[in-house]
Amino acid sequence: MARLIRSERNRPYLIQVGGQNVAICACGLSKNKPYCDGTHKITRDESEGQLYAYDENRNRIIVQVLDEQGNPISLPPETVSD
Ligand code: FES
Repeated sequence: MARLIRSERNRPYLIQVGGQNVAICACGLSKNKPYCDGTHKITRDESEGQLYAYDENRNRIIVQVLDEQGNPISLPPETVSD
């Protein structure tokens, strides 16, 4: 079974717990969820409108999305804000 999860955020959410700063993964790539492990840094050179996928070893592939006529299309911006 496989699953695609869309995430456009390339940095963690920073929260305070018991007076300490904690970084919570928001990119979806951390191997130490829910905590950020710094893996989000590999997303910093991603291009706007392009779709990327990462395997379990954090190897990246570029996914080409096509319309019904087979023409490449860009994804609309994600509408969820932080
Ligand atoms: S935000 Fe996901 S690893 Fe840092």
